[in-house]
Amino acid sequence: MSTATSKAKQVREMFARIAPRYDLLNHLFSANIDKRWRQFTVSKLADLLRRPGAYALDVCCGTADLVVELSKLAPTVGVDFCHSMLVLGQPKVVNQPHAIELFEADALNLPFASERFDAVTCAFGLRNLTDISAGLTEFYRMLKPGGRVAILEFSHPTLPLFRELFQFYFHNILPLIGGAISGSFTAYRYLPNSVAQFPNQEGLVALMRKVGYENVRYYNLTGGIAALHLGERILKTG
Ligand SMILES: C[S@@+](CC[C@H](N)C(=O)[O-])C[C@H]1O[C@@H](n2cnc3c(N)ncnc32)[C@H](O)[C@@H]1O
Repeated sequence: MSTATSKAKQVREMFARIAPRYDLLNHLFSANIDKRWRQFTVSKLADLLRRPGAYALDVCCGTADLVVELSKLAPTVGVDFCHSMLVLGQPKVVNQPHAIELFEADALNLPFASERFDAVTCAFGLRNLTDISAGLTEFYRMLKPGGRVAILEFSHPTLPLFRELFQFYFHNILPLIGGAISGSFTAYRYLPNSVAQFPNQEGLVALMRKVGYENVRYYNLTGGIAALHLGERILKTG
């Protein structure tokens, strides 16, 4: 088994282990601010998703919270490779304003034709991929020309004192609570470590530009604990 395949397997198994407590811990650790981050993400896609015939894709959708938020504006497809996360998302996706479909698939090899979606989102998923650039390239392939990607991800707090306090909490306190409630200390140690290895705000801008996205910009959320990066697949004329 290659290193990438084995890392992907470990990530999938880790999410399967914490799935039953995933939503609870997400909302607890963020004091429900994660809900506002997802709403903000959708607000930055609303101009596209309100158009007739618009279609959204949420990659690494987990338990479908962002899928549900997107479906307020347009039919939405959610993809995740962890069966247990999708099972927990399934009851949330019924009776939403627009149709929702959930698929079990790999973010690096999405089972859809190219240029199908007006918006592609990925919330707290990109950091987990074995190859971030390959993930961004696959999301680009999914976008219709004129479409927009939105990457919501933990990031690097910008203010020095706040950054130090947050890093202490994130690396020392959160893993203990998360580990005790979820039963997986590994998963809640992996979280801050994977964020530390993830590019900072400007680093992700550079990666997105390299892949081909244009009009790349970002918003720091809650002092940079998270950031929302946006990029476009430009409609080329002539
Ligand atoms: C931290 S959770 C985020 C879930 C959801 N987007 C949210 O906002 O709560 C990361 C999700 O990414 C999924 N994931 C990680 N690597 C993946 C891959 N290569 N293909 C598909 N899903 C993947 C995991 O199974 C997990 O459900």
